[in-house]
Amino acid sequence: MQTNYKDVYANWQQDPEAFWQKAAENIDWVEPATQIFNPEKGAYGRWFDGAVCNTCANCVDRHVEAGRGDKLAIIYDSPVTEQVQKYTYNDLLQEVGALASVMQDNGVVKGDRVIIYLPMVPQAVFSMLACARIGAIHSVVFGGFAAQELATRIEDAGANFIISASCGIEPARVVPYKPLLDEAIKLSSHKPSNCLILQREQHPCELIAGRDSDYLEAVGTAKTAGRVSDCVPVAATDPLYILYTSGTTGQPKGVVRDNGGHMVALSWTMDNHYDIKPDDVFWAASDVGWVVGHSYICYAPLLHGCTTVVYEGKPVGTPDAGAFWRVIHDHKVAALFTAPTAFRAIKKVDPTGELIKQYDLSSLRTLFLAGERSDTTTIEWAESHLKCPVIDHWWQTETGWPISGIPVGIGLLPVKYGSPGVPMPGYDIQVLDDEGHPLPPGQLGNIVCKLPLPPSAFPTLWNAEERFLKAYLSEFPGYYATADAGIIDEDGYLFIMARTDDIINVAGHRLSTGAMEEVLGTHPDIAETAVVGLADSLKGQLPVGFYVTNDGCTKAPEALQAELVQFVRDAIGPVAAFKMAIEVERLPKTRSGKVLRGTIQKIGDGTEWKMPAAIDDPEILIEIEAAMKSAGVLDKE
Ligand code: COA
Ligand code: AMP
Repeated sequence: MQTNYKDVYANWQQDPEAFWQKAAENIDWVEPATQIFNPEKGAYGRWFDGAVCNTCANCVDRHVEAGRGDKLAIIYDSPVTEQVQKYTYNDLLQEVGALASVMQDNGVVKGDRVIIYLPMVPQAVFSMLACARIGAIHSVVFGGFAAQELATRIEDAGANFIISASCGIEPARVVPYKPLLDEAIKLSSHKPSNCLILQREQHPCELIAGRDSDYLEAVGTAKTAGRVSDCVPVAATDPLYILYTSGTTGQPKGVVRDNGGHMVALSWTMDNHYDIKPDDVFWAASDVGWVVGHSYICYAPLLHGCTTVVYEGKPVGTPDAGAFWRVIHDHKVAALFTAPTAFRAIKKVDPTGELIKQYDLSSLRTLFLAGERSDTTTIEWAESHLKCPVIDHWWQTETGWPISGIPVGIGLLPVKYGSPGVPMPGYDIQVLDDEGHPLPPGQLGNIVCKLPLPPSAFPTLWNAEERFLKAYLSEFPGYYATADAGIIDEDGYLFIMARTDDIINVAGHRLSTGAMEEVLGTHPDIAETAVVGLADSLKGQLPVGFYVTNDGCTKAPEALQAELVQFVRDAIGPVAAFKMAIEVERLPKTRSGKVLRGTIQKIGDGTEWKMPAAIDDPEILIEIEAAMKSAGVLDKE
């Protein structure tokens, strides 16, 4: 067994196929791969070509068959409904097997797309696994998205079956999901045939006869009858899921994940990156709607046979800033994985960590942070209060697992504040200038990964191969363009500094400013807009919209601004956190007409900025600065 990072990374470099073949021994295959890596298939090759497998069998059945059926698989901890429910692997098999039978009764077969639009309830995990069981391709949609976003996903995926709930529960309000679902189906030109609805007592909904059925009733009947559908064998290269993520336009990108490579890579990370043993409790405090939730609430912990926590609550306010500590204490969590913003939220309410003292956190071995840049203050605060290593690691929806990190399981490397660690085996990371020339250590440039990407990374975008090639593989031939800019230092540590596109990061959520501009542009009074992400001490960034009205617009700015905020909330959803629109006379542009968003952002963030040489009219930046001042944007703490 290798015991340190350098050896393991060198091992991978020497023979990537042998490395992943060895890692694949952790997975049960129906048929092994005929080729560990086939460079002839797909845009950059495919992993585990010829292999046949089933992801659900690996996450559920094999643990039961191995005699671990009584082991806890899922702890559902829901402070918003004041419940805790526990499911063993035996229970999980029953739940998933019965749900899969119900789906088959509804005509869902291998290759069909299924939308899952559920809050953080265990049924969300059952639904993902049930799809995997019958070879259906799931697409989970985060509950904070609006009907239009849901509609786009139903339509793009061509989903015939939807699993949803009557409502979600936010600390201050119940969010009725059913009207959003009905509206989305109305908006989508593709109409799903059936919906399975989880009725929640906090806000039951009406079901549409002929289309909707009651989740608990249907699955309950199947369970009573002891129905457990068989696992359907799929090719390792078949899609397991599509997860839509923000791109540079209003049309989200459908990141495709396959079955075989995904299992191999995730299973490797549980031992080697997260240092988790099958008897441990692993808690990713994220949402199943995000990639972190897919990989580390659902698939990885269950592949590994350990216990995963499904937490329906927030870091603060459910009921207080001690919520995370209570969960760690109650369930003896060994590793917590969350976004730095959650810790900033806790620190803001309980700066001296008084609530931490009320709980026994001795089970906690490591805190993992990802989703956005970790600031040193947050890391130091967490280290001093939790008394365990705090590991920042960097990844993307596109990869499904960390690109860089500190692999705790193979020997803890020193942590450098501000750095999400070193490249994981599988990733040859380089920094290139805009012309594609390699940059020396310490110089800021485009972060790229040399092809091929490792197992689990996306082979394509759903129904959008051209967009996939253009967005990711064409800018730097032979490399995957991450769209993150950063540095690799002399010791090989990465520093992720910024996105090179218009994506912003709000509370660890990835959002497109381009998509918000498209929405604002549909308002009849708006001539043009620019949305930028400005630094925020809690959420990392917050979107701020600048707009120019059409000639003759007589609406009062306050009324118009409220309408614009509502427009984004209705079209994208509350998750966009779009709360500020600022009227300006003109937008600053280059002489060729490109809006200078980068400069607006620097002014708003109060960072140093230079007058762009190609600016059309320098006066406009003075006007923008004045508009920000009067809107209070420049008076941040
Ligand atoms: N369903 C419906 N609405 C939702 C929702 C969901 N699943 N999740 C969030 N929302 C709503 C919120 O209620 C809020 O609405 P509001 O504008 O009416 O207040 C809005 O979307 C923004 O939500 P959020 O970004 O969560 O902000 P918040 O102020 O409620 O909470 C934090 C702030 C920092 C506590 C919270 O963002 C958090 O816990 N972040 C952790 C980040 C994370 O899990 N990232 C995943 C990657 S690891
Ligand atoms: P998502 O696809 O939603 O996981 O978002 C991916 C993006 O989030 C990356 O491209 C980065 O810009 C950002 N990101 C994720 N993790 C980190 C991290 N540890 N440090 C800095 N940025 C991060």
